[in-house]
Amino acid sequence: MIVLGIETSCDETAAAVIDGRRQRLSDLVLSQTELHTPYGGIVPEIAARAHLDHIDRLIAQALAEARIGLDRIDAVAATCGPGLIGGVLVGAMTGKAIALARNLPFLAINHLEGHALSARLSDDVAFPYLLLLVSGGHCQLLAVEGVGRYARLGTTIDDAVGEAFDKTAKLLGLGYPGGPAIERAAAAGDPARYDFPRPLRGRPGCDFSFAGLKTAVRQTVEALPAPPDPGTVADIAASFQMAVADALANRTANAIALFRARYPAGRTLVVAGGVAANTMLRQRLTALAVQSAMTLVAPPPRLCTDNAAMIAWAGIERLKLGLIDGLDFAPRPRWPLDPAATQGSRAKA
Ligand code: KG4
Ligand code: ZN
Repeated sequence: MIVLGIETSCDETAAAVIDGRRQRLSDLVLSQTELHTPYGGIVPEIAARAHLDHIDRLIAQALAEARIGLDRIDAVAATCGPGLIGGVLVGAMTGKAIALARNLPFLAINHLEGHALSARLSDDVAFPYLLLLVSGGHCQLLAVEGVGRYARLGTTIDDAVGEAFDKTAKLLGLGYPGGPAIERAAAAGDPARYDFPRPLRGRPGCDFSFAGLKTAVRQTVEALPAPPDPGTVADIAASFQMAVADALANRTANAIALFRARYPAGRTLVVAGGVAANTMLRQRLTALAVQSAMTLVAPPPRLCTDNAAMIAWAGIERLKLGLIDGLDFAPRPRWPLDPAATQGSRAKA
């Protein structure tokens, strides 16, 4: 079984070819970072046009690297949401066009399901598992029961954690994307110099909040002489990163207790999404998993940040179950993994 995957929901144009035995025959990611850097964040219109400029060539390249023609592909999987809708449309329409022209099954993939199942591509993790999904648009704890079966245990009540990294980096003049920039700056910093708040720490439940932490960092930066010296920037970055890791670990500890009560056989904690590339967070979660008699699975950083391998893999999982979509599937800017959990939530989904 071989699936072509297409990803265009944010600022990475990506195409990959994956087989049913978890082999990545090709896995190409074209980052648009340079296009968006002057604006300090992603400009949706620029992103959509750049996807359109590159997607055909990238798909041809992915097939060439995999050394196969479209005649060997069993299905086409494309991200159909959630995300920046202009970009999502580009990938979804391209995927549908290939499926139509070659009479192949089309698989409309939820980008979040791509992240959620990435640990099954990298590590063959068995269901059920507890998932901490941390990305630019999302911060959620989910029980993953099976393909298409997710129970949300907690979500952010304000910002996504990746957004907090990006905004903090902007404040510190570290540029975009913020996560890797903060991580680099933090390497030389003292994480104990600033005692930033750990929002919701010690409270029951599994929800997250990052607005208070972001405000505390802003107030600290504003009180400094401008521009702050590099040593201070490094200390703020390290202290911020530590506060985020503490907050995430605390909420995840509560989720582990809930998860274990509901799924006594479940022993795996998975962290996925762009922020899961963060080394400090991985260390923190490894320690938490050990304390809780759980095993932490963190896919390699390349599979954590946006890519098409995870989309093709979600396609393989769905194809195996016969979950094929019609070519009339409408791309969605919002598409929660657990629709039952969204009522009353202010979180982006
Ligand atoms: O999953 P992703 O690539 O795109 C979305 O679906 O949102 O996540 C992107 C987010 C950005 O906010 C970026 O700053 C963050 O992941 N990120 C990191 C790191 N690498 C990427 N955050 C912290 N540390 C990193 N090393
Ligand atoms: Zn993502």
